[in-house]
Amino acid sequence: MNYNLLKGKRGIIFGALDENSIAWKVAERAFEEGAIFTLTNTPIALRKGDIYQLAEKCNSTVIAADVTDLTDLENLYQESMNILGGKFDFMLHSVGMSPNVRKGLPYDELNYEYLNKTLDISAISFHKILQTAKKLDVLNEWSSVIALSYIAAQRTLASYHDMAEAKAMLESIARSFGYHYGIAKKVRINTISQSPTKTTAGAGIEGFNSFYSYSDCMSPLGNASAADCANYCVVLFSDMTRMVTMQNLYHDGGFSSMGISEKLMSNCFTCKGDCK
Ligand SMILES: NC(=O)c1ccc[n+]([C@@H]2O[C@H](COP(=O)([O-])OP(=O)(O)OC[C@H]3O[C@@H](n4cnc5c(N)ncnc54)[C@H](O)[C@@H]3O)[C@@H](O)[C@H]2O)c1
Repeated sequence: MNYNLLKGKRGIIFGALDENSIAWKVAERAFEEGAIFTLTNTPIALRKGDIYQLAEKCNSTVIAADVTDLTDLENLYQESMNILGGKFDFMLHSVGMSPNVRKGLPYDELNYEYLNKTLDISAISFHKILQTAKKLDVLNEWSSVIALSYIAAQRTLASYHDMAEAKAMLESIARSFGYHYGIAKKVRINTISQSPTKTTAGAGIEGFNSFYSYSDCMSPLGNASAADCANYCVVLFSDMTRMVTMQNLYHDGGFSSMGISEKLMSNCFTCKGDCK
C-alpha cells in the first residue's frame, strides 16, 4: 500500500549492496512513497553491479563514495544536489564492516588498526556524513537522518565482536549530533535498532543463524524483516514523525523488552541445540 508519505522529498541512501540489503528495501519503499534519491556505495561494491538494477527500478543515480572519505562525501552531496535539483530531506546510513570479524580474530586478540577501521566505517562515518552535510548546508529544515544499529550496543551478544563498540558509538553520535543539528536546523537524527536480518553483513557475524533463531524465539512478534524495517524508515523520513529525534528506536518484534519466552523455554532448553 502506498501513502505518498515521501512525495516531493529528496534523499541519499547509503549501503545498498544486493537485494538482501536493508538499504535496498528502504530504497524500494521510499521510491514507492514518492521520494527521489541517489544511491551510494564504495567503488568495490559498485563493481559487484547489483546496485544498478536497483537504480533502474527506482529511477535513481548511483554515485561512488567511501563513507569514511570527506572528499568523496562532498562530491556525493554536490552531485546529488545537481541531479535531484535541491537540498535533501532524508538520508539513510546503512553501512557497517569490521576487519577483525572478517579476519576471524578473537575479541580478546583485537588488532587495533582494524578496530580503528571498524569504528571509522561503522560509526565515525555517521558523524562524517552529518558534519559534511552541515558544513555544506545540504539538509532542509525538518530533515530526517537514520542510521541502523543493533542491540549489541546495550547487551553482550557473544561473537558480535567489535561491532558492539561501533554500534554504541553510532547511537551516541545520533544523540550528540541530534542536539547540535536540531538547534541549528531542526534536523532529526535517530538510530533504528533492527532484529537480526539475513544480509551479507549479517551473515558475516559468526553464529548468525543462532542469533537469528534465538531472537525469533524470544520476540513475541518474531524477528522484524528488512521489508518491515523499510516501512519504519519511511515513516521516520516522513512528516508524521517530526518531533522524534536523538532516539535509539527498537525495531525488533519486542526482543529488547524480553527476559525469556515460553517458546524459548520449550524449544531451546529441551532441544539439545538442534533448533539453532
Ligand atoms: N543484518 C543484520 O542482522 C543487521 C541487524 C541490525 C543492524 N544492521 C545494520 O544494518 C546496516 C546495513 O547492513 P545490512 O545488514 O543491510 O548488510 P549489507 O552488507 O547489505 O550492507 C552493508 C553495506 O555497507 C557498505 N559499506 C561497507 N564499507 C563501506 C564504506 N567504507 N563506505 C560506504 N559503504 C560501505 C557495504 O558495501 C554494504 O553495502 C549495517 O549498519 C548493519 O550493521 C544489520
